[in-house]
Amino acid sequence: MVEKSMVLIKPDGVERNLIGNIISCYEDNGLKVVQLKLMKATREIAEKHYSQHKGKDFYEELITFITRSPLCAIILQGEDVVEQVRRINGATSPDDAEEGTIRHRYARSKTENCVHASDTLESAKAEINLWFPELG
Ligand SMILES: Nc1ncnc2c1ncn2[C@@H]1O[C@H](COP(=O)(O)OP(=O)(O)OP(=O)(O)O)[C@@H](O)[C@H]1O
Ligand SMILES: [Mg+2]
Repeated sequence: MVEKSMVLIKPDGVERNLIGNIISCYEDNGLKVVQLKLMKATREIAEKHYSQHKGKDFYEELITFITRSPLCAIILQGEDVVEQVRRINGATSPDDAEEGTIRHRYARSKTENCVHASDTLESAKAEINLWFPELG
């Protein structure tokens, strides 16, 4: 079924001029960019986005990182897009990410790992509402 997922090219990816290369990884796999914008995340939106990680030892570092400079928020559309995008992104840490994945190629650390993607269709809907409220 054709579905939507929400991707963030995180501040490290935008700072290192990787927007084009990262989007190509999705497009080359047949996924379509249907919305895209650059924005600096506020602490408020970052805390909502990462609410499941509140209290963990990396939480403050993660919020500081994700709000430090503009990120690129993208809605991708395609067959089994949620699963496909997570496969294309690779494991959270570059040390664990398979060869050919975005994180294996570009991520520098577990926190600065270039991309975020929704992990279920349900979270994709919630994240699209959070990052693209103007579409509602
Ligand atoms: N142990 C850790 N140390 C530092 N940063 C971490 C750690 N675990 C997760 N993070 C950061 O928090 C983000 C969210 O963690 P999560 O476990 O949801 O990873 P993920 O699902 O692979 O990544 P994402 O949600 O960004 O797609 C990670 O992408 C990473 O930036
Ligand atoms: Mg996650």
